[in-house]
Amino acid sequence: MTNTDYPLLESQFVAVTGDEPDALANSSNFVALLFNALDDINWLGIYVLRGDELVLGPFQGKPACVRIPVGKGVCGAAAATLQTQRVPDVHAFPGHIVCDADSRSEIVVPLVVDDKLIGVLDIDSPSLDRFSEADQEGIEALCHAFCRVQAKSPGFI
Ligand code: SME
Repeated sequence: MTNTDYPLLESQFVAVTGDEPDALANSSNFVALLFNALDDINWLGIYVLRGDELVLGPFQGKPACVRIPVGKGVCGAAAATLQTQRVPDVHAFPGHIVCDADSRSEIVVPLVVDDKLIGVLDIDSPSLDRFSEADQEGIEALCHAFCRVQAKSPGFI
């Protein structure tokens, strides 16, 4: 059961981006807004698609691994399949990449603009099974709003 007001978060994100065209600034505020609004998480950030690798972008939490090949780990699986990966127990996910040893569950949502993958949003929790189906729906809706804002920028993140 989620206790996050996702529609409110979306309106706050739209308000904070306003008419700002800078993709990096808007990405940084997106990450900061979500990190401070979601309970029981230890890491939240964007990995940006660069060629066939995901490269660390704006994030909140401990320093993390910088490059993840598409297809590797939870992030790489989301990028390769274009499907959200909701992982109740990261230790049970084959190939999970440990960045913060506190992480126990994780959700990774692909970020798609004009039918092209631009990166993924990754959120880690220190609790097992932190992310419900309702959280997945809410976070996916936020990612759609994020991608609509990115689509208006001259260059994406
Ligand atoms: N656990 C991720 C790596 C990124 S960190 O969690 C920040 C993965 O398996 O792709």
